[in-house]
Amino acid sequence: FHSSSKLSSNHKKRCNFGIAFDIDGVILRGRVPVGGSPQALRRLYGDSGELIVPYLFLTNGGGIPETKRAKQLSELLGVNIMASQVVQGHSPFRNLLKKFENELIIATGKGDPALVMSEYGFKKVLSLEEFASYFENIDPVYQYKRWTTMPQSDRKETAVPRYNVLSKRIKAAFVVSDPVDWGRDIQVLCDVLRSGGLPGVANNNQLPLYFAADDLEYQAAFPSKRLGMGAFRIALESVFNRINPKRLEYVTYGKPNPFVFKNAEVILSQLQSSCCQDHSKNNGVPGSHSFETLYMIGDNPSVDVKGAQQVVDSVEAAVDYILKRECIELGA
Ligand code: G3P
Ligand code: MG
Repeated sequence: FHSSSKLSSNHKKRCNFGIAFDIDGVILRGRVPVGGSPQALRRLYGDSGELIVPYLFLTNGGGIPETKRAKQLSELLGVNIMASQVVQGHSPFRNLLKKFENELIIATGKGDPALVMSEYGFKKVLSLEEFASYFENIDPVYQYKRWTTMPQSDRKETAVPRYNVLSKRIKAAFVVSDPVDWGRDIQVLCDVLRSGGLPGVANNNQLPLYFAADDLEYQAAFPSKRLGMGAFRIALESVFNRINPKRLEYVTYGKPNPFVFKNAEVILSQLQSSCCQDHSKNNGVPGSHSFETLYMIGDNPSVDVKGAQQVVDSVEAAVDYILKRECIELGA
């Protein structure tokens, strides 16, 4: 675990700090809290459950809307977490709304990627799964996938496709969370990317492709690390570059992009203004607070905290360290 990444330093005021927590490998492993995370978080609240220290979750994971993730985390961790405290890998996809709000797009990954994008305001979103289901035989090994619950006869090939995908081009593809069916996703993404958005048609213009993060590996419930979205990106890119004359173009979001940490700072500052006790430091103006120190507690040096020093080995110890360093006694 790593901590104490200084993201800004202008003010010299005591207790002038915020904390960003990584989720996978720090707060949870799978769905199980680890490292004393529930106790650690409780220390950031006062006796009546009010937030004392501004904090948020900064994860490269995702797949469900921030509102739902906040509810899920609250249940697992026993504190009241707001949606604004949850920043997932795909959260910055909101910023692409202007470009694609009314365009036909596809989204893939575990959970409900189409719902995530719809909640951000994108009007015409199809999951890659639904999109693929309208194209007969697009996945030649579909019938061998024993995990699919939908019988071939119920597939949408017979249904009238939403948004007329059989003749209308999609305009962008989004990898929202870790893909579940890599084989199908690589095949279908190669199809849409090589055809300018209409599988089966030749067109050399690659449409925009966005990844929510680029983690090669991450810590889940299994003892050793699991392959993440970055591994999927490498697999897709290797195949695409072998079958297409032009190399794959894409944009990746998530940590360690500097704008992710900048954005976290803005959110923490808004939290400090709206929720935390010490309103005197920002003259009551929401979002005007600047911190002396922002801490990032993560488990992946190349993603969470570039170049930070290893200081503690659990999230509880990290929070203790921070509170001691900041000279305050808080909560339970
Ligand atoms: O899929 C999740 C993984 O890529 C990383 O999650 O919380 O460790 O940033 P986290
Ligand atoms: Mg992690």
